[in-house]
Amino acid sequence: MAFEKFDLTGKTALITGAVGLLGMEHAAALLESGAKVLLTDIGEASLNEARNQLAKHFDRAGILTQVMDVSQPQAIRAVAETLWAEGLRIDILVNNAAIDPKVKGEQGVFETSRLENFPLDQWNMQLAVGLTGAFLCSQVFGTAMARDGNGGVILNIASDLSIFSPDQRLYRKEGLSEELQPVKPVTYSVIKAGLVGLTRYLATYWADKGVRSNALSPGGVFNGQGEEFVQRLSTLIPLGRMAQRDEYRAAVQFLCSDASGYMNGQNIVMDGGRSTW
Ligand SMILES: NC(=O)c1ccc[n+]([C@@H]2O[C@H](COP(=O)([O-])OP(=O)(O)OC[C@H]3O[C@@H](n4cnc5c(N)ncnc54)[C@H](O)[C@@H]3O)[C@@H](O)[C@H]2O)c1
Repeated sequence: MAFEKFDLTGKTALITGAVGLLGMEHAAALLESGAKVLLTDIGEASLNEARNQLAKHFDRAGILTQVMDVSQPQAIRAVAETLWAEGLRIDILVNNAAIDPKVKGEQGVFETSRLENFPLDQWNMQLAVGLTGAFLCSQVFGTAMARDGNGGVILNIASDLSIFSPDQRLYRKEGLSEELQPVKPVTYSVIKAGLVGLTRYLATYWADKGVRSNALSPGGVFNGQGEEFVQRLSTLIPLGRMAQRDEYRAAVQFLCSDASGYMNGQNIVMDGGRSTW
């Protein structure tokens, strides 16, 4: 039966940045497919809350949590060692964590988003989470997948901005001078393009060990952003709207299961057609 290939029963998936907007959707997608999920993020309280939310729809026993800051190599290793001591194997790694500044309207925040003023500590911090964090988690959990001979899947959550430049006109605010106009920060483009590079590298590196790696590049998700922003963005998208938060679930199920067994090193762009215009 065709759908058997989507079945993740018996598999365990680790999701980084799991309590955020999309992390919860990835978790639901994988739980729907029968996997056990290990939610990881930086705050214990939010992890507990996320577990409670998911347990309303899925078996609580299949939802594990661990505090894990992906910018801290020793924290990743400590989580891995705890899991291994319990005999738990990670079959699927979803590198999803990011510092994702949401579109909002506080004047002053914007000034530092601009390239001319972008603080080095922000650059370092955002890369440490969004790109180095994915490298470190792949290093620890990918090595383990490759070593024990049972293969595995690494899914990197990139963005449509991995393949094209942000249209900074989207973020403009009336009444602000040029130097105060908000922009999508440079880090976002660099991290997302970098994740696609990491994906291709990993795809060949452990291919002979049965470890596949792909990227998913979502377009913007509607999450109560201001009307003006939503309208501007929607005009750039052939489908005429932003994504709903659950519209990437099926892609996650595909990319993390044997349904995509012959797909490796690819970047699946789901952007409502934006990149075709
Ligand atoms: N929301 C969108 O429209 C959209 C579009 C394209 C791509 N993406 C990508 O999808 C992924 C998830 O986005 P989101 O909208 O859910 O973002 P979000 O901000 O809601 O969630 C990100 C999560 O990462 C966690 N995090 C931050 N620093 C961390 C660290 N050091 N270690 C571990 N976790 C950390 C945060 O606590 C948060 O829960 C990101 O990679 C983002 O770039 C999102």
